[in-house]
Amino acid sequence: MAGDGGLAIEARGVVRRFGPVEALRGLDITVPYGQVTALVGANGAGKTTLLLILATLLAPDAGTVRIAGHDALARPAEARDALGWMPDAFGVYDQLTVDEYLGFFADAYGLPKQERPRRIRALLSLVHLDDHLGRPVHALSRGQKQRLGMARALVHRPRVLLLDEPASGLDPRSRIELRDLLRSLAADGVAVLVSSHILSELEEIADRVVLVDHGRTAGDHAMAEITGTSARVRWRIRSLDPEPLASALARELEELPWVQAADVAGGAEVGPLTEGEAAGLLARLVAAGVPVSGLAPAGSALESAYLAMTENRR
Ligand SMILES: Nc1ncnc2c1ncn2[C@@H]1O[C@H](COP(=O)(O)OP(=O)(O)OP(=O)(O)O)[C@@H](O)[C@H]1O
Ligand SMILES: [Mg+2]
Repeated sequence: MAGDGGLAIEARGVVRRFGPVEALRGLDITVPYGQVTALVGANGAGKTTLLLILATLLAPDAGTVRIAGHDALARPAEARDALGWMPDAFGVYDQLTVDEYLGFFADAYGLPKQERPRRIRALLSLVHLDDHLGRPVHALSRGQKQRLGMARALVHRPRVLLLDEPASGLDPRSRIELRDLLRSLAADGVAVLVSSHILSELEEIADRVVLVDHGRTAGDHAMAEITGTSARVRWRIRSLDPEPLASALARELEELPWVQAADVAGGAEVGPLTEGEAAGLLARLVAAGVPVSGLAPAGSALESAYLAMTENRR
């Protein structure tokens, strides 16, 4: 399905200004087929601006954008045929029913008429909205609208999928279904680029993480590199008695000046430490007689990595 075998997305030196605001300041990004790439970064970092440009809905002031091998600036229609787009907010098609809504996009993408009803039913079933066929779009809940937006993005079986915070309004089950859907699309060779602030979920969804900071790419990492056993994260240590834990930790950390510890309910949080370093610390605490009842990563590894990468950037 990867077609030309090249990159799904290749954007270089992308600049976009809004009046005095430089939303994108020469951003570079490449996205391969068959993987889920996560776009993370602070509010206002430029993620939505980038996704709109990749979706050919916003023109950059400078830079080049290739989507599925097409020059997206010179030939936007060809790029649009190859890509599916799910915005962070739902558009205004409120007078339409759910199937009319998908029919509208099936039409716009030139899906053969006789194929449409079957395709629409398959899409609604994919996002678990089968029961809502014939209902007006405005009667859907926020999360249901988002799932409809996902179905819309997939109408024409795009090879490149751009999603702006697709999980933000979803209930826990729908989030798991979204994760499974994105994984299976990637397994089919689709290039998925997804922005999200829910880092703990991205950890399970994404193969790669691209960090956007003040309109530029500030990091590009394989997820395995971030979440592997050599990644340094914070650890939560539980103790039956906080006193001996606090004093033993204070002694231990004299040797490890870069490690920080804080008291939390039921114990302490320490880090950043690798899994091996945490295991060593645990052994020494137990040997010192601390009644340790638990050791576990605090938050997700991606969250820790994100905080470390953005520490000095605020
Ligand atoms: N239409 C617009 N007019 C003026 N400024 C804009 C416009 N769109 C975006 N900006 C500005 O560009 C910058 C990047 O915004 P963008 O929406 O791309 O950020 P984001 O990374 O998607 O943030 P969030 O995580 O909050 O969604 C911000 O400073 C924002 O205020
Ligand atoms: Mg945004």
